[in-house]
Amino acid sequence: MNFKCRLFVTACCLSFLFLVGCFETEPYKDPSKDIDERVEDLLKRMSVEQKLLLLQGDGMSTVGIQSLGIPPLNCSDGPFGAHRGAAITSFPCGNSLGASWDTALIADVSAAIGREAKAKDIQCLLGPGINIIRHPLCGRNFEYYSEDPFLSACLGVSFTKGLQGEKVAATLKHYAVNNQEFYRNSLDVIVDERTLQEIYLPAFRDAVILGDAWSVMSAYNMVNGVHCSENKHLLTEILKEDWGFRGFVMPDWAGAHSTLASANNGLDCVVYDSDLFGRPLADAFSRGEISETQITGMARRVLRVIFLTGLMDPLPAADENIINCPEHRKLNRKAAAEGIVLLKNENNVLPFSPEKVKSLAVIGPNAAKLRMGGGGSSYNSKVFYQISPLDGIVSAAGNKIKVSFAQGVGLADTLVPVGAEFLRPSNKSRGTKGLWAEYYNNKDLQGKPIVSQLDTTIDFVWETGPKIYLSDSEKNRIDTLSEKSELIGADNFSVRWTGTITPPKTGFYDFVTHSDDGVRLYVNGEILIDQWYSHDKEFRYGTIELEEGIAYSVKLEYYEEIGGATMRLGWFYHDPEKIEEAVRLAKISDAVVICAGIDKFWEAEGADRSNFDLPLVQNRLIEEVAKVNSNVVVVLNNGGPLNLRPWIKEVPGLVEAWFNGNEGGNAVADILFGVQNPSGKLPFSYVQSAVEFPPAFDNYLNRDKTAEYKEGVFVGYRYHDKYETGIMFPFGFGLSYTTFEYSGLKIERVSENQFAIHFSVKNTGNFDGAEIAQLYVSELNPTVERPIKELKGFEKIFIPKNESRSFMISVDPRQFSFFDPQ
Ligand code: BGC
Repeated sequence: MNFKCRLFVTACCLSFLFLVGCFETEPYKDPSKDIDERVEDLLKRMSVEQKLLLLQGDGMSTVGIQSLGIPPLNCSDGPFGAHRGAAITSFPCGNSLGASWDTALIADVSAAIGREAKAKDIQCLLGPGINIIRHPLCGRNFEYYSEDPFLSACLGVSFTKGLQGEKVAATLKHYAVNNQEFYRNSLDVIVDERTLQEIYLPAFRDAVILGDAWSVMSAYNMVNGVHCSENKHLLTEILKEDWGFRGFVMPDWAGAHSTLASANNGLDCVVYDSDLFGRPLADAFSRGEISETQITGMARRVLRVIFLTGLMDPLPAADENIINCPEHRKLNRKAAAEGIVLLKNENNVLPFSPEKVKSLAVIGPNAAKLRMGGGGSSYNSKVFYQISPLDGIVSAAGNKIKVSFAQGVGLADTLVPVGAEFLRPSNKSRGTKGLWAEYYNNKDLQGKPIVSQLDTTIDFVWETGPKIYLSDSEKNRIDTLSEKSELIGADNFSVRWTGTITPPKTGFYDFVTHSDDGVRLYVNGEILIDQWYSHDKEFRYGTIELEEGIAYSVKLEYYEEIGGATMRLGWFYHDPEKIEEAVRLAKISDAVVICAGIDKFWEAEGADRSNFDLPLVQNRLIEEVAKVNSNVVVVLNNGGPLNLRPWIKEVPGLVEAWFNGNEGGNAVADILFGVQNPSGKLPFSYVQSAVEFPPAFDNYLNRDKTAEYKEGVFVGYRYHDKYETGIMFPFGFGLSYTTFEYSGLKIERVSENQFAIHFSVKNTGNFDGAEIAQLYVSELNPTVERPIKELKGFEKIFIPKNESRSFMISVDPRQFSFFDPQ
């Protein structure tokens, strides 16, 4: 052994002895010891001040305590990639994953997300989102899996296990009953106990009990009069006592409202930067209002997660090469394809083959642009690459099929303010470009205006405070207006802008408002946008056909009630020549793919969608194209359901692709060309209008900010079954390129209350493919009113053509039960 080697061996022995020495005195540092033992040992060494430090984060991490070797626990949104910091793989969104009904796949996806998170020094993912899809227009439907508690639960458990298998904490959100974005910070959901337990909690329950989730995020809303972040029934009685949850509860961002009430009722740690825990909690302790035992209990929960994620152990070097590695790219494409649902395939228009299709026209706003995700905190804005449907189709078509592209119509995906040069005020005394504004010091446009003046563009973000501030584009007039606006105040005012608008070109215009609060827009006497109620910042859209050079009357009315005030008016132009170009292309092509739908601007956290309609010019595009080509396949990107009625009968093919990650376009092409046989099934009922599920709309805009879930347990298909609404595409629906035949149903009683349901499924068609068998339970003579059927089991198996596979679904007593509040 040479000198260097001897030196190295001696150094290793010394470090080993040192570590052994440390472990003897500080067992919490010993990775071979049981985690609970290590946590208790560490707690004994901590002062109450140090414990308190663990309970107040600094934005996206908990606070580290260097002297004890406790690093910060770094969190990241999620859930479809840990996107804090550098670029990652962007996996498909919630209801795309939901539509795969594939528990193994979802565990693989979350494990990949976990590995990428770890490589970025992130130990806690803010997800999965496992709320029930109740309101068809909820702005976050795309984040959630399903309307069904059983399906949501199975997928939530898988996601949790896959992620935590990589030692990254899952944060189940948003606990609980967070099913709409409207009034999301203050909404009070009135829901009875049976409905809570049967519909809204099972996914959380299973992810805690079966998935052993390490963290839970309380929701913004209230449940039965109490904010979720201080709701004893939800956090303490159910989550911690009934389910035995041992991780920690954090509130949603800015979702905590108190210090003591939160701490006493089950909130453990506020990760975002807030002034509710930290100092106030320390003060409460020194006043004797909260005991050290309780603070220790809260710190124990946080510490346990820190240990579970391996943060207290020597960390292996982060492997950054894992991010966007070929395996993750492949998995991402597979996941996106497994979630695609084939909704219509008349005359076997799909899959396309070079024998049938020599020329393919690709059309639509979502063809050349990939719609990876919905908007808000879940959006993965930094990715390595994006495969649009057009990219995917071009590479799948190879040189056997000629692919041509014409966008036809675009999609307004940002707000472009209407320029002053197109506007003429109704009163020209102060200039000729812009609209005449009348400011009222009440929110009903009553009495005489306090200020009347010319506003060039309507692009205002006024902040709370005694004065009204103008946006950047109006800064040159800030002094004049802010003096006058003192007479108006920051809240409780209204404005009417009037004049004309002269479009530079003939065609369709989408007018877009972004307002907080109420707004009404009239163009040429027609009301295009009507949102005359108080709300957070929300976008609304209205489409109208206008002719070049004609001055159309414009009236825009706005009111501000309280808080931040925003009023922006934008527009987006659709050139009719572009639609004609697309129609011409469709006419000379063997088949057409129209990539339609919405994007993260239209469906996003923070606001609900305004209606079910596709941005209207898209309907016109589809209708016109369908008139000239009989092989039209519409591919949709969206989270919640869209109104397909205007053209569904006119097109033979319809593919629901959701928002499906940065490999989305390849996945779409895999389905269109039959590289993959579609097997996805709808994870929610595809309603087309508010009348199909009235309970969600009945008391939606209540001024008292309550939403009473009067339908009880009859949510989604449970409602449609009961009222026979004749829904176009029901829950669980999805076509395949092949056919399956079921036989040999046998119900085996495994034990007193345990059943095994056996059957065979044969692939009787011409394509290999997977089938998702669904098992529903129904009580024959119920003592309480129960749904006609309830999903209680499913299995997805790949079956080559002409072959059969045996399915077995087991059912335990819980699947037959209902919740009796008594
Ligand atoms: C969202 C959460 C998210 C958090 C942190 C909140 O507004 O509701 O889902 O995890 O922000 O970004």
